Amino acid sequence: MHCSWKAVILLALVFVAVQYALIRSITSENYSSCSDTQRCCDVKQMSSKKNHILILAATRSGSSFFGQLFNQHPDVFYLYEPLNHVQTALNSTNDNRQVILGASRDILRGLFTCNLHLLESYINPVPENHMTDAVKRRGASKALCTPPVCDAFSSSMVNISEEECLQECGYLNLTLASVSCQQRHNVVMKTVRVPVVSVIRDLLEDPRLNLKVIQLVRDPRGIVASRMMTFPEKYPMMRLWKMKGQKPRNLGFTKIPVCEDFLSSVSTGLSQPSWLRGKYMLVRYEDLAQNPLTKTQEIFAYLGISLHQHVVDWIQENTEAKGVWSPMEVFSTKRDSAANSEGWRLKLSFGMVEYLQTVCQAVLQKLGYKRVRSSGELTNLSYSLVEDMKISFQ
Ligand SMILES: *[C@@H]1O[C@H](CO)[C@@H](O)[C@H](O)[C@H]1NC(C)=O
Ligand SMILES: *[C@@H]1O[C@H](CO)[C@@H](O)[C@H](O)[C@H]1NC(C)=O
Ligand SMILES: *[C@@H]1O[C@H](CO)[C@@H](O)[C@H](O)[C@H]1NC(C)=O
Ligand SMILES: *[C@@H]1O[C@H](CO)[C@@H](O)[C@H](O)[C@H]1NC(C)=O
Ligand SMILES: *[C@@H]1O[C@H](CO)[C@@H](O)[C@H](O)[C@H]1NC(C)=O
Repeated sequence: MHCSWKAVILLALVFVAVQYALIRSITSENYSSCSDTQRCCDVKQMSSKKNHILILAATRSGSSFFGQLFNQHPDVFYLYEPLNHVQTALNSTNDNRQVILGASRDILRGLFTCNLHLLESYINPVPENHMTDAVKRRGASKALCTPPVCDAFSSSMVNISEEECLQECGYLNLTLASVSCQQRHNVVMKTVRVPVVSVIRDLLEDPRLNLKVIQLVRDPRGIVASRMMTFPEKYPMMRLWKMKGQKPRNLGFTKIPVCEDFLSSVSTGLSQPSWLRGKYMLVRYEDLAQNPLTKTQEIFAYLGISLHQHVVDWIQENTEAKGVWSPMEVFSTKRDSAANSEGWRLKLSFGMVEYLQTVCQAVLQKLGYKRVRSSGELTNLSYSLVEDMKISFQ
């Protein structure tokens, strides 16, 4: 179905008028959801109050774990890193960041309207008859492992492992995935591939989407410490520093992308431009780690999603007895009692931390992370580096 902008605006106006009339007469009219899997201009679909939520994160900021909080909710259609396919496919042919980000934004728009077929041009190998076994981390998405997509598990099961999903569910039928998406009232996606919130301004301004953004950040010193171990090729100088125990001579004060991106994006978010007002929430990983349940309640309330018992159960099952949350494995959310959100303080030398603090000074201050002034302070884990943050959403 072709959807022109004029039609959309007209329909939106009609909808406002219709809804006004409905509210006036207190009618409990029901709106069936649109049955067409393609993008559709149906007034009924726009009127259904679906929540669309994008989690913006950075690698090694605890985002897999964070995404799982949403994934446990039976009325959430969750996709883990859908842009992975897009950016991998585009990167080999075109290195232009703007082009890739523009394409990513358009794909997100389509995915939020439940057109999963859009991914087909990017999945390798190309799906046949809308069937594929090449969706990355399919098992991280419960909706892709339960009915109507897969009958092997019931959606009330709390702990379907990714391996079990792949074994039992076979090829993924993307048409059924689209149907599953349409059936749920909340569509949530998580991505580390959108560096700053301004990239998706168009989506936030799109009246059909009712989109909200959660920006998940973490102390950049912790992110770098973690990335150095997981992606050593990206931080050769820091690796060298750690191995040799002294600063490499040719290491200047080069910018660290994650600090630049956080600073830019969070500054935009907290400055409350009109296109973002009421649609942006900043979440610090450390606050979640400290108080997973309370923080999750706060976030779900902001988004207008009920805190389903499955979510509560999952938090309880995946956090330490003392409530400290420690998801540290690269591509897993399993808890690891040896590490926690401040484990980096024992892994980096004071010199390295001082270096990072200098390069990332502005963003540390913006996000309320304290500088450490001595190696004693660094390794004294009873001394918190996380300041209270009052205003994190609007
Ligand atoms: C909802 O819509 C269906 C189909 O139009 C109709 O059969 C049903 O009675 C409606 N339910 C309510 C509560 O209005
Ligand atoms: C894109 O390609 C460049 C080199 O061509 C590589 O360094 C980079 O990691 C790639 N990015 C992604 C997201 O695959
Ligand atoms: C999932 O939960 C059920 C019951 O709560 C338990 O019997 C089963 O061992 C769990 N499976 C995994 C993989 O943890
Ligand atoms: C995928 O699901 C759709 C919708 O139920 C169905 O019509 C189609 O036959 C399925 N495709 C395959 C290859 O089973
Ligand atoms: C560690 O920090 C706490 C809290 O600031 C402080 O009371 C304590 O004296 C510190 N311990 C050492 C050994 O410096």
